[in-house]
Amino acid sequence: MAAAAGLALLALLAAAGAERGRKVSMEYNPGWNSSSVNLLHVRAVGPEDTLHYVWSSIGAPSVLLVATRSPSSALRVNWTQLLSPSPAGAVWIDPPDSVVYSTAVVFTKLFEFSEAKPLGELFYPTYDLSEFSWESLNHTLNHTALTAELRGVPASDPGGAFANGSLAFQVTAFEGSGRAERLPRLLHTADSSQLQFVLAGALPRGNGSRFVLQLAALEPPGALRRLRTRSSIDDEYAPSVFQELSLVAEPPNGSTGGSALSFLHWKAAAYGSPSPRREDGVRCRAGALRAANGSAPAAAVPRAFFGDGPAALSVLNVSFGGEEGHVYQERRYLSWSVLLGFGEPPRDSFSPLVISIAAVALGTPLAVLLLGGCGLLLARRRRYSEYEPIN
Ligand SMILES: *[C@@H]1O[C@H](CO)[C@@H](O)[C@H](O)[C@H]1NC(C)=O
Ligand SMILES: *[C@@H]1O[C@H](CO)[C@@H](O)[C@H](O)[C@H]1NC(C)=O
Ligand SMILES: *[C@@H]1O[C@H](CO)[C@@H](O)[C@H](O)[C@H]1NC(C)=O
Ligand SMILES: *[C@@H]1O[C@H](CO)[C@@H](O)[C@H](O)[C@H]1NC(C)=O
Repeated sequence: MAAAAGLALLALLAAAGAERGRKVSMEYNPGWNSSSVNLLHVRAVGPEDTLHYVWSSIGAPSVLLVATRSPSSALRVNWTQLLSPSPAGAVWIDPPDSVVYSTAVVFTKLFEFSEAKPLGELFYPTYDLSEFSWESLNHTLNHTALTAELRGVPASDPGGAFANGSLAFQVTAFEGSGRAERLPRLLHTADSSQLQFVLAGALPRGNGSRFVLQLAALEPPGALRRLRTRSSIDDEYAPSVFQELSLVAEPPNGSTGGSALSFLHWKAAAYGSPSPRREDGVRCRAGALRAANGSAPAAAVPRAFFGDGPAALSVLNVSFGGEEGHVYQERRYLSWSVLLGFGEPPRDSFSPLVISIAAVALGTPLAVLLLGGCGLLLARRRRYSEYEPIN
């Protein structure tokens, strides 16, 4: 009951916070004087709440998201315990009762396969991301741009595939709403961060290899993950992309009226170039979302925060490439952008270009109708911000 009220409150706080903006600060390994491991604390403070993001490469790369109803809540880390084999309890928020919601996402594995006619698919040995060695994130930290990068290679690489390559997770935090410069130009709010997964320079082990990234979402009891798919229009923001996907956490009893508590959100495109253009697009597909209760992934910070108790784990495969041919083979570069945050994922409405094309092609009445639709969307958004948080 209290949990449900807390979750409903979070949805309102998130909706209000997204409109108002936040003050964001980043701290590397707080309270630990070494760069042998990576922990990045991103603190996003709003007028009445704080969002904490804890990125880490201790174990598999992961991010812990905690929403609190206090603008002064603080992250605490017991480092000796966090780096021990039993980290449960080593990461917490002070004061503990300010926490309204928490979740974690772990990037567990990278699969590589190629088509092997007539036998179907041939899988190469899996890259287990908990067995990578990661460079220090400290020197990549940019406190002005609010960016940082986790970059790693397999700790053991007998075939030398990563001799001239790496896998990176580039993080960007936001203080307000906006849209990324790079394709697929994801829309963001102050309640979200962007993650760009980049595989660059690694030698494919097969002819025309394709890659699949596996991720796991960890929830405390009381929330469920669901995969939402939505058609989108080919517009100037993400040309030739026709689908948006969101992996949302929702309370099972509908206490937030179907609103999401948190999300991962992306467009169905990855890109085969560091300066992506439309023609560098690679189709990205999500597999089925699977529940995998009981087996917490090897990521220290989520384990430290949630403990070894019951948690709902959902696992998703995201695959890159397909009928476009051998994009990775030729370019040796793959990037995939995903937004993660609290509340509902930001929603694209019709772009100005689409509306003006509609106005010319279909005559003004329909364009007015479309604009009316956007106006409605805006009005609905504004309605949320008129709610005052309940004390
Ligand atoms: C950190 O954890 C260790 C091991 O559990 C414990 O002995 C120590 O007292 C803790 N330190 C603090 C400051 O809580
Ligand atoms: C390593 O990668 C860079 C950039 O992708 C490339 O220019 C260079 O030729 C590569 N070197 C080898 C030995 O593959
Ligand atoms: C790799 O695939 C391409 C396109 O299917 C083909 O032309 C080429 O001969 C293949 N190379 C090898 C070494 O199998
Ligand atoms: C992800 O893909 C791998 C390799 O095909 C497969 O073994 C695993 O079961 C898949 N997991 C999910 C959740 O689909």
